[in-house]
Amino acid sequence: MPGTFVFKSLKPMTRRDFLARSGAVSTLLVTSRPASAAAQPQVGIPASAKPLFVSTWPFGRASNEAALKVFQAGGSLLDAVEQGIWVTESDAGNGSVGLGGIPNAAGVVQLDACIMEGVGHRAGSVAALEGIRHPISVARRVMEKTPHVMLVGEGARQFALEQGFEQGERVSPGREKAWKNWKAQQDAKRASKPKGHDTIALVGLGPDGHLCGGCSTSGMGYKLPGRVGDSPILGSGLYVDDEIGAAGATGIGENVLRYCGSYQVVEYMRQGLSPQDACLETLRRIAKKDPKGFDLSISFIAIDKQGRFGAAGTGSGFQYSVTFPGTSVVLQSPGLTAKSVGPIGGNRPPVK
Ligand code: GLY
Repeated sequence: MPGTFVFKSLKPMTRRDFLARSGAVSTLLVTSRPASAAAQPQVGIPASAKPLFVSTWPFGRASNEAALKVFQAGGSLLDAVEQGIWVTESDAGNGSVGLGGIPNAAGVVQLDACIMEGVGHRAGSVAALEGIRHPISVARRVMEKTPHVMLVGEGARQFALEQGFEQGERVSPGREKAWKNWKAQQDAKRASKPKGHDTIALVGLGPDGHLCGGCSTSGMGYKLPGRVGDSPILGSGLYVDDEIGAAGATGIGENVLRYCGSYQVVEYMRQGLSPQDACLETLRRIAKKDPKGFDLSISFIAIDKQGRFGAAGTGSGFQYSVTFPGTSVVLQSPGLTAKSVGPIGGNRPPVK
């Protein structure tokens, strides 16, 4: 793969080793400096180093590592993705994923999640699910045990209870206290000020070349009850095409939903762009159409079937996690702003 940095050794590698392997790769590593939108070095792993797990944010690293362990212990790639996401869903300190998340404007945590398997192009999803500890597993059960793809609200909860899923508090005591303060400060206007949130999207590539992905979030803090973001929507928060690659999103769901963002990333990979350029090109395309321009607060991760991976975000980019046997690192994605936009994707003509 020309221009692709390939790891040659499988011995355990520290972040320092990782940095030392390639000067080119250092532009992707944790740094406060926004990377340029010009063609980015592409990063990939050799076939022998799979499975590969890539997820959003530094907290994704623990999920990736759990996913790798599950796979190495004999679990399927789908088990790995699901159980990897459990780690973030179980983290009570995470304000954006799982029942520890910031509640909605009514003081209740409503969870969104989806899972997708490349083989068979199967998917399951839940939205606005209350009081269930692992929405990613309910999404998987929807995929495996029902003729449907998506269940929402009380129907999703009833299904989860019938299936025996573990329940939890609809809001944690600490988040409830913060919500009460927030509520007290609200004026009569319904339009609540959203709180930032960081979804986990986790995509995986197995040694057999098959792909899976999952996405889970409590969504925007203090959102209107019933609000659903991009995360449980196939093609927006997550998309897997077993012939091509997989992509996932994080950030303000409304800015991804309206553009089928993850589907677009995969489509750009289908057209020949690397995962990194596909993420950049998708952001560029959205920003070109959106009245907010690059002021979107959204980011994407992507992997392709060859084991290349990449990510990009608006503004100064974001941090994402990459794990494969012997290596687990947090990287800095390039960022896109109106100033930094340049030609990407080689000689690709500008998006009209
Ligand atoms: N990206 C997650 C959400 O907006 O709900």
